[in-house]
Amino acid sequence: MVNVTIIAILIAIAASATPAASYTNHTVGGDAGWFFNTTTNTSIIDYSKWAANQTFSLGDFLIFKTNTNQTVVQTYNETTYKSCNTDDASDDDTFHYDAGSNVFGEAWTIAVALTIEGPNYYLSDADDGVQCQSGLSFAIDVKHGQGLPPSLNQPPPPPYIEPPSADSPPSPTVAVAGGQPSGNGDSRNAANMRAVFGVLLLLLV
Ligand SMILES: *[C@@H]1O[C@H](CO)[C@@H](O)[C@H](O)[C@H]1NC(C)=O
Ligand SMILES: *[C@@H]1O[C@H](CO)[C@@H](O)[C@H](O)[C@H]1NC(C)=O
Ligand SMILES: *[C@@H]1O[C@H](CO)[C@@H](O)[C@H](O)[C@H]1NC(C)=O
Ligand SMILES: *[C@@H]1O[C@H](CO)[C@@H](O)[C@H](O)[C@H]1NC(C)=O
Ligand SMILES: *[C@@H]1O[C@H](CO)[C@@H](O)[C@H](O)[C@H]1NC(C)=O
Ligand SMILES: *[C@@H]1O[C@H](CO)[C@@H](O)[C@H](O)[C@H]1NC(C)=O
Repeated sequence: MVNVTIIAILIAIAASATPAASYTNHTVGGDAGWFFNTTTNTSIIDYSKWAANQTFSLGDFLIFKTNTNQTVVQTYNETTYKSCNTDDASDDDTFHYDAGSNVFGEAWTIAVALTIEGPNYYLSDADDGVQCQSGLSFAIDVKHGQGLPPSLNQPPPPPYIEPPSADSPPSPTVAVAGGQPSGNGDSRNAANMRAVFGVLLLLLV
């Protein structure tokens, strides 16, 4: 039993020595933020240059600090990105973020999680695509890094099932057989514990 205790302690030490996962929040454009200058008809900085000087990994966030004169569109479709036109874009590969406001010039910030490895594209489709055509867009390559954190690595929701329409016949009631047998849980847990100790003891041999 002493040896089992030592092994358990070693396992605990190894687990706690694993470095804590760390992810990066990239503020898009740095201090400049995500803006278009309508006087000069250009983005206020070169966003492709900004992006080229960063390493992006799964689980990182892009933080867009902007106002409601710009939009944030994320796409995985290079055609959509290059055309600056989201009219024909599919809902599967293009996501629109907006501040939920129809007032011009209101400050807003949006955090976009990087959850898909490989090319990701960002653009503003405001001013009928002129902002995007004139520099308010960039492409990044998302590396695997340490992978997604559990908070972003959710399984997809179950597929949608059409509810029965009002005029379809009611489905037969299915009787659920048996209840949860009581008193079984404890003995099962005890069996699991015995199995764990059995494996540990086998490792010792
Ligand atoms: C990064 O941004 C996300 C989303 O806003 C936030 O939950 C997280 O705390 C931020 N992390 C750091 C280190 O600022
Ligand atoms: C837009 O550019 C003009 C001309 O360079 C400058 O005067 C103005 O401050 C800029 N506006 C913004 C919001 O950056
Ligand atoms: C701004 O730039 C776009 C794309 O380069 C061009 O189509 C548009 O005519 C320009 N608008 C103004 C007001 O100069
Ligand atoms: C990235 O930015 C840092 C700090 O501004 C600078 O020192 C470095 O040269 C830049 N690297 C690239 C590849 O542009
Ligand atoms: C990209 O989007 C265009 C429409 O904008 C569509 O025709 C094309 O099939 C899409 N490409 C991929 C790889 O989904
Ligand atoms: C936002 O756009 C509106 C309409 O084009 C313009 O009047 C206003 O000056 C812009 N505000 C900012 C902060 O860029």
